[in-house]
Amino acid sequence: MERGVEEERILEELEDAARRNIPYGRVLSSMCTVPHPIALKACKRFIVSNLGDPKLFPGTASLERACIGMLGELLHLPSASGYITTGGTESNIQALRTARQLKKADPGRANIVLPESAHYSFDKAAQMLGVTLRRAPLDDELKVNVDAMRELIDRDTIALVAVAGTTEFGQVDPIEEISGLAQDEGLFLHVDAAFGGFVIPFLEDPSRYRFDFELPGVMSVAIDPHKMGMSTIPSGGLLYREEGHMRALEISAQYLTSQVQFSLAGTRSGASAAATYAVMRHLGREGYRRIVSECMANTKLLYDRLKAMGLEPVIKPVLNIVTFKVPDAQRVRKRLCDMNWYVSTTSRPEALRMVVMPHVTREVIEAYVADLKKVLDVV
Ligand SMILES: Cc1ncc(COP(=O)(O)O)c(C=O)c1O
Repeated sequence: MERGVEEERILEELEDAARRNIPYGRVLSSMCTVPHPIALKACKRFIVSNLGDPKLFPGTASLERACIGMLGELLHLPSASGYITTGGTESNIQALRTARQLKKADPGRANIVLPESAHYSFDKAAQMLGVTLRRAPLDDELKVNVDAMRELIDRDTIALVAVAGTTEFGQVDPIEEISGLAQDEGLFLHVDAAFGGFVIPFLEDPSRYRFDFELPGVMSVAIDPHKMGMSTIPSGGLLYREEGHMRALEISAQYLTSQVQFSLAGTRSGASAAATYAVMRHLGREGYRRIVSECMANTKLLYDRLKAMGLEPVIKPVLNIVTFKVPDAQRVRKRLCDMNWYVSTTSRPEALRMVVMPHVTREVIEAYVADLKKVLDVV
């Protein structure tokens, strides 16, 4: 490390490392995808800007505000407040932190009621915030049981969580009912739409799954541009119905030009906002509708192929996630991995899980299904 190495050699090392990464075309386990080319261009142009100190980067800050405006419009509240986070994890942590600040809750006693299917980022949030999670069971279709949620609420409950697009099965909770429950109980409701936020609004009939600010009980929403939004990593969105709620996170940051901060990270990349701005402006609703419609057609193709093999689905796909019961799913997953296919497994019930992202094309599906047949013949 004493002497530097010439650029050419380093670039070769970087190339070598990049080549060892798994190409997206072999990955059916990820909720991220190849970003849109315009997002990559914007990311490169803004990689040096720091939104932790927005008054030094007013241009980048204006792009972030525009992103929140576009995301708010998508979620039926153009006036929503919020900021571009690093992803669903940060958004979920911050939403629960907001609820705790608003209730001025005693951290030793406070609890949050959420579905059993909620992402593990809520466990991180609970550890950090010193609150207890009360997980409500799911029904046969793997949606949360709202009566069970109601029973778990007590005087120390500070928030409810619902999921629009669960990580494992892509299911959408009955959020309209949960919104009513939140209103009845006077509780803050956070909706985790990290995955579903860029899918549900672009389905053929989005009104089947109402999940966002059009429901009066919903106070905050997590929605990730770096998943189905086609932006670069890391790009998440955290949106609030009321600006005052976000202000509950305000921390004094005197050495910075802006003096206050709401975000969890201090220094944070402006490239995320620029990339998200660029891709959302460029695709428009029409562009996203096209992408989602193709993903849903490919989801159906994969579903039909696996059913034709005599396999049993866990649920009929709601979003672009396909789950099927197979004997010894872990072993099947490992065998597929030996053939350079990357899928994941679910726990309850155990199943093979495949996410049909935009890079999972028809051709990818046909090649994957052919190899899966070989694996199942020998397992
Ligand atoms: C529903 C849901 N919420 C939150 C997250 C966490 O997102 P991230 O990995 O971007 O922090 C995920 C990730 O897959 C998710 O599926």
